[in-house]
Amino acid sequence: VQTHLITGAAGFIGSNLAARLRRRGDAVVLLDNLSNGKLANLRALQGDRLVHFARVDCADADAVLAAVQSAGFAPIDLVWHLAANSDIAAGIADLRIDVRDTFLTTAGVLAAMQALDLRRLNFASSSAVYGDFGGRAVDEDAGPLQPISNYGAMKLASEAQIRAACESFLENANIFRFPNVVGVPATHGVLLDFVRKLRATPGHLEVLGDGRQKKPYLHASDLLDAMLFAAAKLERGFNVLNIGPSDDGISVREIAEITRAAVSPDAAIAYGTAPGGWVGDVPRFSYSLDRLRRLGWRCDCSSKAAICKALNEIIEQEGEVTCSA
Ligand SMILES: NC(=O)c1ccc[n+]([C@@H]2O[C@H](COP(=O)([O-])OP(=O)(O)OC[C@H]3O[C@@H](n4cnc5c(N)ncnc54)[C@H](O)[C@@H]3O)[C@@H](O)[C@H]2O)c1
Repeated sequence: VQTHLITGAAGFIGSNLAARLRRRGDAVVLLDNLSNGKLANLRALQGDRLVHFARVDCADADAVLAAVQSAGFAPIDLVWHLAANSDIAAGIADLRIDVRDTFLTTAGVLAAMQALDLRRLNFASSSAVYGDFGGRAVDEDAGPLQPISNYGAMKLASEAQIRAACESFLENANIFRFPNVVGVPATHGVLLDFVRKLRATPGHLEVLGDGRQKKPYLHASDLLDAMLFAAAKLERGFNVLNIGPSDDGISVREIAEITRAAVSPDAAIAYGTAPGGWVGDVPRFSYSLDRLRRLGWRCDCSSKAAICKALNEIIEQEGEVTCSA
């Protein structure tokens, strides 16, 4: 039995990770400021004596420290730092958001870890650190890294802080560079956006960008499998790892058509003209997963399968259309 600290635990991936770790019998200390996550996402863990939740701004190292101490659990074995701003477009409109919620939360978590003498960290990084490689499959050593969003910039800056901390007090830090992750409880992302738009205006779906954007998508359950597998293998040093599906992605056009067929088959799809959906959106992205495979990871998970599975889950999450006419 291990004890874990998860930041961003009330969010989409954090709540899935917490549930998964509890299922295998581990204890979890969960932190979130509830800016995007919801307590309802942790409902299944309520009342569990091996779960402690605290509403904390993770940029505040003292608050993180106090929350961990007040949990009163055995020493923390592993920290999973997932707290971040997940809205890329919001971070472009207001430059302070990613600094505060992505960069400073990493600083706060590291300072609290140092004070608590915690030495193992897993970090939720992103393909956004790479910037735009024009769709060429990038491995972990690709460079120069030139993120095109503040979100990516602050993830990269967080990676750098973590790397430096490995010189002083961290014994092990795993940087997991996620692709697009889908599933429930969905808090953001293209599928939730399309389902909500089609529910609001069943005859019409507006797509941001020309629909030819193509990216890898992974279901949250496969992401957790890969992360837990890799974290168990990589118990020392500083490691950077791409995590992704078995293929090189699916286009936004195909996602729009799959969603239309499931939610509102008669809707007209209106595409934009720009190659990216918004400023900071990398239009075509693809991963090399050789390092993960060399570690022994095998997964037959296609982007399309992830999209279809998550779409059904999100349709259920969003409930039936209610007509008040
Ligand atoms: N979902 C994806 O496709 C994807 C892709 C790449 C990387 N990631 C990374 O994975 C992690 C989890 O993402 P997610 O999709 O679950 O997003 P999410 O928004 O559902 O979860 C992030 C959580 O962090 C919390 N948070 C934000 N600022 C905070 C702060 N200052 N203090 C405490 N909590 C704070 C939010 O309330 C939210 O619950 C994030 O670091 C994200 O950048 C996600």
